[in-house]
Amino acid sequence: MKVIDSISALRDTVNTWRRNGETVGFVPTMGNLHDGHLKLVKKAKAHNDKVVVSIFVNPMQFGANEDLDAYPRTIEEDKAKLISVGADAVFLPSVAEMYPAGLDAQTFVEVPGISDSHCGASRPGHFRGVATVVTKLFNMVQPDDAFFGEKDFQQLQVIRALARDLSMAVKVHGVPTERETSGLAMSSRNGYLTDAEKATASAIFAEMQRLKAGIESGNTNFVELENIMVSNLEAKGFKKDYCQVVNAATFEPASDSDKELVLLVAMFMGKTRLIDNMQITRD
Ligand code: PAF
Repeated sequence: MKVIDSISALRDTVNTWRRNGETVGFVPTMGNLHDGHLKLVKKAKAHNDKVVVSIFVNPMQFGANEDLDAYPRTIEEDKAKLISVGADAVFLPSVAEMYPAGLDAQTFVEVPGISDSHCGASRPGHFRGVATVVTKLFNMVQPDDAFFGEKDFQQLQVIRALARDLSMAVKVHGVPTERETSGLAMSSRNGYLTDAEKATASAIFAEMQRLKAGIESGNTNFVELENIMVSNLEAKGFKKDYCQVVNAATFEPASDSDKELVLLVAMFMGKTRLIDNMQITRD
């Protein structure tokens, strides 16, 4: 596996592959890789001749009081994991390589509408940071296909929208969330939890399933279902950020006539913010 830290070396590598007629898959990450990330790399391998993974803890998508400095950085372990799943190159740029003029002078990409609610409302500027770094990475790698986890459902929709709106040739793929056997969605931030907190955190998945079953059995009182879920989770020590059933395309609160829904959840366990979601189709 090639280890690359400059944009020019990345372009040389990808150009050589392209001259040989090979397709390129791309998996952007912030590192601290778990099985969810490795699943994305495996999907990319199945789809493309060559696979690039980027590891960059993007300062632009963290708010002033968030966990940028504490965010886990495990580069050597990550490289070993990427070799084990056959990644062809890992791109490890510095902040100066990505933002040579500094963050304040950086041109940015903002996807209107979908970026404003839920994680966008709780984390102002977050999706601007994500959209900007993903656009830059897409321009550097010029992938045929890019792979993102569905755990970050709103992020995935933001990225699909930017690729469409900016007429990018890349095909954006969503990959189902990888879960622990307890049901807890895999996330680098799970590492902030104690074992006891991790066991409790699996209640999010159980409650999502309960709410989904309620809708599937015909209950359309979405707000009541959300309130029950929140009070069950609060009884276990969670604090709500948001918990809402929305139209999967518009992210507006679900209405009786919507068929494709998604339950979006963000809960605090102590200082750790956990997000998850579940797609629900009504007949
Ligand atoms: O999901 C992530 O890890 C990040 O938001 C991403 C897409 C790599 C952009 O920094």
